[in-house]
Amino acid sequence: MKNIKAIIFDAYGTLFDVHSAAEKCKDKIGDKWEGFANFWRNTQLEYTWLRSLMKRHKDFWQVTEDSLDKSMKVFNIDSSMKNELLNLYKVLSPFKEVPETLKILKEKKFKLAVLSNGTPSLLNELVKSNDLDDLFDDLFSIEEVGIYKPDSKVYDIPIKKYKIEKNEVAFLSANTWDVSGGGNYGFNSIWVNRNNSIFDNLDYKPKKEIRNLNELIKLIKEEHD
Ligand code: 2OP
Repeated sequence: MKNIKAIIFDAYGTLFDVHSAAEKCKDKIGDKWEGFANFWRNTQLEYTWLRSLMKRHKDFWQVTEDSLDKSMKVFNIDSSMKNELLNLYKVLSPFKEVPETLKILKEKKFKLAVLSNGTPSLLNELVKSNDLDDLFDDLFSIEEVGIYKPDSKVYDIPIKKYKIEKNEVAFLSANTWDVSGGGNYGFNSIWVNRNNSIFDNLDYKPKKEIRNLNELIKLIKEEHD
């Protein structure tokens, strides 16, 4: 991976903790908050994949709301909590090592970008609310191509913008299916395996597996310094 020119990050689950919205409401939701958070996230992703397959696109904010509606019914959570959960989803917390890692990478010569299912306004608010906006060269949203990951048109976006080769990209994701999507497309996909999960059988093996982004700095130093 010596010829890396751009380091591109997935957003939800990789840079930002998708469960932090429900976690902030755990006193009101109760012990079931974690099961609810996982169900909401899985339903949200299922909806993105199904909408792409059915060619019935709705943006990520609408899909997030639709999946929340179902999840609140399944977990019998009072509908009065809906707006609080949605507002918290707009300002999810970054994982603790993210700001420092991005600052260190910013000092090097790489292009740094986000490539996400999120809408442009969601990504702007997410990054700005965590004071990370000056660290990225671009926030790429799938809305540019109107179809969700792992469609190859999504991974085309940074290649067209930066006019670089696929193998000049290091792509970081915690979502195993997204790691395989980017890897099968031609990126050097690195799996951020925060919870010691098991990888998928989708024709791709991650170039590297790291526990958190601190390990990315070590990797870059080994390969580039
Ligand atoms: C993202 O695109 C996969 O939802 C995740 O940010």
